[in-house]
Amino acid sequence: MSAGDNEPRNKQLLLKRVPEGISGPEDFEVREAPVPELQEGELLVQAHYFGVDAALRLITRDSDEFLFRVKPGDMVHGSMAGRVVRSRHAQFSEGEYVHGSLGIQNYAVSNGEGLERCDLTQAPLGAWLGGFGVSGLTAYFAVTDVCRPQPGQTVLINGAAGAVGSIAGQICRLAGARVIGLTGSSAKCDWLTSELGYDVAINYRDADWYEQLQRAAPDRLDVIFDNVGGKVLDESLKLIGMRGTVLLCGSTSQYSEAHMQGPANYIWLGTMRARLQGFVVFDYADRYAEARRVMARWIEAGQLLIPFWEVAGDVDMFPEAYQKMYLGENLGKTLVRLPAAEALGGAA
Ligand SMILES: NC(=O)c1ccc[n+]([C@@H]2O[C@H](COP(=O)([O-])OP(=O)(O)OC[C@H]3O[C@@H](n4cnc5c(N)ncnc54)[C@H](OP(=O)(O)O)[C@@H]3O)[C@@H](O)[C@H]2O)c1
Repeated sequence: MSAGDNEPRNKQLLLKRVPEGISGPEDFEVREAPVPELQEGELLVQAHYFGVDAALRLITRDSDEFLFRVKPGDMVHGSMAGRVVRSRHAQFSEGEYVHGSLGIQNYAVSNGEGLERCDLTQAPLGAWLGGFGVSGLTAYFAVTDVCRPQPGQTVLINGAAGAVGSIAGQICRLAGARVIGLTGSSAKCDWLTSELGYDVAINYRDADWYEQLQRAAPDRLDVIFDNVGGKVLDESLKLIGMRGTVLLCGSTSQYSEAHMQGPANYIWLGTMRARLQGFVVFDYADRYAEARRVMARWIEAGQLLIPFWEVAGDVDMFPEAYQKMYLGENLGKTLVRLPAAEALGGAA
């Protein structure tokens, strides 16, 4: 494949300006570039799916404090799953499916570093960016290695209907815990209880959501698995139980705030001898295969659903999908499904 006039062009999504509040399409722009030629030791991946990750809003802040940063003019950092369409790499062949952090673009050149093969017999391609990828692995290790809910205990999942939360709640149920989920609409609450097996789901936009939570957890909460931070975390801290665990998975509500706020009700941690535990999934990189083997068995046995919410479109659809996810339209992982995936039908 070369960059001649009749050859495909590579659309790349750039950050146009530092967003204020929740980002929208006006904060991004698309640049067209030729599809690059390969050097020895490289491969070319054509994108079929982009994963839409909540943390992108954190790394587009006007700040160098975080692990990564995307500045105006930079290509948007993001996860891609796709097909190897050319290879000059000894370990990857044309036709294989892979995923990695390859940016929001149609074609990415890689030297293989950080790429993982996707075994489509274990899970469909898009799932490797969500419930079977980083989101699901985050839920798996945070629940099984840190929160460790016991049969009969009560767990609260904040951000329960999202990519991480939807898997975390199901794994807590598999451990025998009673699971309460907080999310942003009554339709999402219905989905959590009817499809994912949550015992109780509460809409945090209800004026009396905290009273509903108190009624649902009369013996307090053994685990709070927090994806959102802000007021939802702060209020739920008042219900943490004796020697409970509060898992800080993410703080979605704070990523777009000019001034991030921490919880004021931390005093309950002291009173209840509870712990507030940070967590980063990358610490478990050498155990991903083990987690996927267990999760694949649960999927096959019908015990674990891998929910995703797809938006069909090209690179320029990403900002809209990203905004809709922040507004809470997604059930499970938000994915952009590209025309290249459409061409293969339902296969990948
Ligand atoms: N620690 C790790 O290693 C790790 C790894 C992956 C992800 N994470 C973190 O996990 C969190 C969840 O990520 P995800 O990919 O699963 O995202 P997600 O939950 O699929 O999507 C974001 C959701 O956040 C909710 N939300 C948006 N604004 C909110 C607000 N102001 N207050 C409360 N909820 C709000 C919306 O759902 P509602 O309808 O419910 O409002 C939205 O659907 C993120 O903070 C991410 O950074 C951490």
